[in-house]
Amino acid sequence: MWKIKDLEVNSKVVLAPMAGITFASYRKFMSEFGFGVCVTEMVSDMGLIYDNKETNEYIKFDKGNYLTGVQLFGHDPECLKKAALICLQKNDHIDFFDINMGCPVPKVTDSGAGSSLMKNPKLCGDIIRAIKSVTDKPVTAKIRLGWNNESINYLEVIKELENAGVDMIAIHSRTRKELYSGTPHHDLLKDLRKSMTVPLVISGNIYTLDDAINALKITKADAVMVARGGMGNPNLLRQINQYFEDGTRLEDSSLKEQIEYCYKLGKMIVEEKGEFTGMRVYRTIAPKFFAGFANTKKYRNRLVTELETLESLKMILNDIAEENGIEFLFKNSKL
Ligand SMILES: Cc1cc2nc3c(=O)[nH]c(=O)nc-3n(C[C@H](O)[C@H](O)[C@H](O)COP(=O)(O)O)c2cc1C
Repeated sequence: MWKIKDLEVNSKVVLAPMAGITFASYRKFMSEFGFGVCVTEMVSDMGLIYDNKETNEYIKFDKGNYLTGVQLFGHDPECLKKAALICLQKNDHIDFFDINMGCPVPKVTDSGAGSSLMKNPKLCGDIIRAIKSVTDKPVTAKIRLGWNNESINYLEVIKELENAGVDMIAIHSRTRKELYSGTPHHDLLKDLRKSMTVPLVISGNIYTLDDAINALKITKADAVMVARGGMGNPNLLRQINQYFEDGTRLEDSSLKEQIEYCYKLGKMIVEEKGEFTGMRVYRTIAPKFFAGFANTKKYRNRLVTELETLESLKMILNDIAEENGIEFLFKNSKL
């Protein structure tokens, strides 16, 4: 068990924030596989301040049996403070706030937000202080190693954040310049947690149970953050939880289970977003359920190009089942 301020967490898995992916129904679906903490997609402070309709959707969610943090992005402590207050007025179920200090996308960094903040460690601390001045809820931060190889300054940023009263830090062990590719540098963060006063969550290429074990062993972090590795492989969460509970290594899911999971998530997304938008959003997620399975390539392509309705999802999943000799799943089924 570990804690974010006074909130207890009983899992070594944190579900990462991913823009365009970790919307409410995705988080709810993944919660059935077990995580202690999740974070919304990043939410623009100015979008909230200007009462933007789309932005407001990001902060709508119900209470789950896990903690949900709203991740804000911006660069001005006063605006971020205002945005946090707006969130608190609009949703009673927010457990904590997380500040995005790692996003590498130019649209975000050009305005001084995301990973640009790491160029100014003092500002990182000021942002945490500003939000803490208006709420007792925990305030956490997600950072990277630094801007590029020549400016690796995560230790300085961590110190500033800790001095400002941050309640947890997640670190994606790549620089801004490295974006999302290449091997993350967990090795640089050897025993990092031992020198910190607040919980540490480690992020970067957590695709397998062994990735999680290694990242935790090196850094002594309290938890791993599952991001791309959990997309289409929700069972990874179960594998990590079970291993850290009693040392058992659970099997990977079967193709039949993957088909069922893929349909279930599709249905949940349609319930949240409607069929038109839901199925378009799902085109980037659904094919991932079949990565690594033989005889599924042409179906993965179809999931990208043909997904229009729940019925079309069912048809493609049926074709995968039939080609692979899996008992027919959807005919007469209540799935
Ligand atoms: C599509 C996508 C969207 C992301 N959006 C966010 C975001 O909104 N906020 C954030 O802090 N990190 C975001 N991330 C970064 C992830 O949370 C994570 O730190 C990163 O992907 C590294 O983990 P991985 O290598 O296991 O995927 C995003 C990553 C991806 C792939």
